[in-house]
Amino acid sequence: MVVGEELRSLWRRFPTGLAVVTVDVEGERLGLTVGSLVSLSLEPPLVGFAVNRTAALHELLRRAGRFVANLLAADQGDLAQHFARGVPPIAIWQGISVRDADGPPKLEGALGWIECRLAGEHAAGDHTFFVGEVLEVEHGPPDTRPLLRVDQSYRAL
Ligand SMILES: Cc1cc2nc3c(=O)[nH]c(=O)nc-3n(C[C@H](O)[C@H](O)[C@H](O)COP(=O)(O)O)c2cc1C
Repeated sequence: MVVGEELRSLWRRFPTGLAVVTVDVEGERLGLTVGSLVSLSLEPPLVGFAVNRTAALHELLRRAGRFVANLLAADQGDLAQHFARGVPPIAIWQGISVRDADGPPKLEGALGWIECRLAGEHAAGDHTFFVGEVLEVEHGPPDTRPLLRVDQSYRAL
């Protein structure tokens, strides 16, 4: 039996890129910082990430059936913190620049954006692993650097 704290402390030493997954359900918009986003397949193009079953995004994502994975840039540590903090819904978009008027919000200044249709989900303990089929990919400026999380701090590559 793996001790949770031991596992958590090892994962903290293992660097991950960060993304904010955003959804829009009839104008109700939400975002969540995730370190679990992975590329799963190119044919067809699939991505996946895990969401805590208690997270506010969990049910909204199911209802939305669509999401954008905003891959964060090196200078977006504040955004990663913002969308990890459980900000009350009324304040969540205050002062946040988004690119598109319709659909899941695209955060300004990101490394890139992956727009997906929800294609499946798998129970994974206290999380659900969601799979998305990629509909659209967009790159930020080529000189944009990614944001990393390691040793409980945000780092630029
Ligand atoms: C670096 C980092 C990575 C995270 N990765 C995930 C993740 O992959 N899945 C997840 O459900 N929560 C992840 N979280 C936690 C959520 O962002 C968030 O803090 C938590 O779910 C509270 O949100 P809630 O108020 O909507 O419940 C991460 C937090 C941080 C700071």
